[in-house]
Amino acid sequence: PSTQLLDGVHVTITAGPTREPIDPVRYISNHSSGKMGFALAHAAAQQGANVTLIAGPVDLATPPGVQRIDVESAQDMLDTALAQAADIFIGCAAVADYRVADVADHKMKKTANTGAPTLKLIENPDILKTIAAQTKPPMCVGFAAETRDVEAYALDKLKRKKLALIVANDVSNTAIGFNSDDNAVVVLSEDDRVVFEQQSKQMLAQQLIHHIATHYHKHFRK
Ligand code: C5P
Repeated sequence: PSTQLLDGVHVTITAGPTREPIDPVRYISNHSSGKMGFALAHAAAQQGANVTLIAGPVDLATPPGVQRIDVESAQDMLDTALAQAADIFIGCAAVADYRVADVADHKMKKTANTGAPTLKLIENPDILKTIAAQTKPPMCVGFAAETRDVEAYALDKLKRKKLALIVANDVSNTAIGFNSDDNAVVVLSEDDRVVFEQQSKQMLAQQLIHHIATHYHKHFRK
């Protein structure tokens, strides 16, 4: 194809949920499908990028031309992300905010005399923020799923996590986001705001990759 916006550019994308162990057979997780991240990986590869897709546990096929690395916990995802230095980093994963403080070595048993156990949780690292805080960071793109004040919260995340772009997504609308096949978003940077109307995650991914590539060439390519 003649339009290869990301020829020779290394793009790393996190996608899907993370899985935080409780004991060898149980975990805490969320309903993220990974569809948006996988669609972005596919679209970036179609634009000639060298794509690394760091995937939490999802039930999706690897897009053609994409190098996929499967991970489980947020800590695994962070370690893998740090090892995959890239030109563009897109944090699309629904990372669990907390993990269990003391993971049991053996299956926890239900015993009549001790009653219901209490799980102590501790905060997980912020993957995107950690990547963006490196000495020579890639161009970082985040996602913000919110149910109210969507753009205000997204802008706050853009600044706090030192991102180039943030993709804001109103998840109070059940027609879009999480498990659905469609999405509609607003992409914010320090100085612009672009609306992407409701469409399939595949179509949206192509438009987002075009927008991200344009921003990269304008502000980041040395
Ligand atoms: O959870 P939050 O709304 O702060 O997520 C915003 C962005 O930060 C998303 O792009 C998400 O992938 C990323 N994130 C992350 N590591 C976390 C939490 C969020 O990379 N622990």
